[in-house]
Amino acid sequence: MRPADFSIRPASPGYAGAILRVHRRAILILARESYSEVELQSWTYGLSEDFYRARTEDTAHFEVAENPAGLLIGFAATRQDEVWLVYVDPDWVRRGVGSALLARAERHLLDAGLKDIWVQSSLNAQAFYVAHGYVRQKSLDAATRGDVSLKALRMTKTLAPSD
Ligand SMILES: CC(C)(COP(=O)(O)OP(=O)(O)OC[C@H]1O[C@@H](n2cnc3c(N)ncnc32)[C@H](O)[C@@H]1OP(=O)(O)O)[C@@H](O)C(=O)NCCC(=O)NCCS
Repeated sequence: MRPADFSIRPASPGYAGAILRVHRRAILILARESYSEVELQSWTYGLSEDFYRARTEDTAHFEVAENPAGLLIGFAATRQDEVWLVYVDPDWVRRGVGSALLARAERHLLDAGLKDIWVQSSLNAQAFYVAHGYVRQKSLDAATRGDVSLKALRMTKTLAPSD
């Protein structure tokens, strides 16, 4: 598929509703290959616009990708030395959006002096992170906002100045 036409900009509170929509769609549609319905519902439980409104204000690196029509098609955020969130709308996957968001998140961490970084990857996202040089360290049970924990992977990467 051809690369998507999109731009990346800082997230602001006004994007909260669109971020929520993409987050829910990415989980419920893309992660379905790796998790049960009960697990997906627990993962999305409690997500709210208020949560994203607050995070876009208190997170140093939180960015959104928009298509030329102004539709939000992905977002990414970091937290300390962690690539915290990378989500792309199911209608826009495999067109380079996730890679572009991830590259900018890594650049932010590198610029902050953080070389050894990590991500808690869902099982369905593992191939994406492997494609970007992340190495699987261990499996873990990740708590969700619901009462079910999900199998996930701790993956790490050492950034080079050229990244
Ligand atoms: C993981 C995710 C962010 C990838 O976004 P994307 O925009 O599709 O990624 P890209 O198009 O930049 O993909 C880059 C490369 O990663 C790999 N990749 C991405 N998705 C893949 C998949 N589903 N299966 C196998 N490889 C994949 C490929 O090597 C791909 O290159 P290619 O398309 O030329 O083969 C997206 O699928 C997503 O939001 N998933 C659901 C949410 C999720 O679980 N997020 C991670 C939470 S830790």
